[in-house]
Amino acid sequence: MTGLVYYSSGSGNTARFIEALGLPAQRIPVRMGEPMPEPDQPYVMICPTYADGEGRGAVPKQVIRFLNDESRRAGLRGVIGAGNRNFGQTFGLAARVIADKCRVPVLYRFELAGTPTDVARVRDGLKKLQELECLTV
Ligand SMILES: Cc1cc2nc3c(=O)[nH]c(=O)nc-3n(C[C@H](O)[C@H](O)[C@H](O)COP(=O)(O)O)c2cc1C
Repeated sequence: MTGLVYYSSGSGNTARFIEALGLPAQRIPVRMGEPMPEPDQPYVMICPTYADGEGRGAVPKQVIRFLNDESRRAGLRGVIGAGNRNFGQTFGLAARVIADKCRVPVLYRFELAGTPTDVARVRDGLKKLQELECLTV
């Protein structure tokens, strides 16, 4: 089963999206020192962007910490970016950065807590990914 790992800050937009998806998901803690998820199956990362004006710092520090561990990184199959189009060029940038560093595809991007259409598309996409995993193991 393809799992989900996500980060969501105090504003909780990504957490609301995950709730709407209604699929099992592990949350990367906001605070340092709290235990990280240790996914034991392939997973997709859902990550919001927190860039400065120049696009720096797009990937939240706790997500970087999570991905710095090789065994956690090994299960990553793709990344879904969250953000806000008001940020223009850096919309959903964190997903691009993670995809480039970890050599996985950006599967989707959505704004804030997503729309019902975003939820339906992501659910469908994850199902298809799941079927592919089944064919390849
Ligand atoms: C300081 C700050 C910087 C942000 N920078 C970006 C950005 O560069 N690109 C983008 O798409 N969204 C940006 N956002 C919007 C967040 O990614 C968006 O609100 C997201 O839904 C937050 O998810 P969360 O509430 O789950 O943490 C920024 C938000 C904040 C507060």
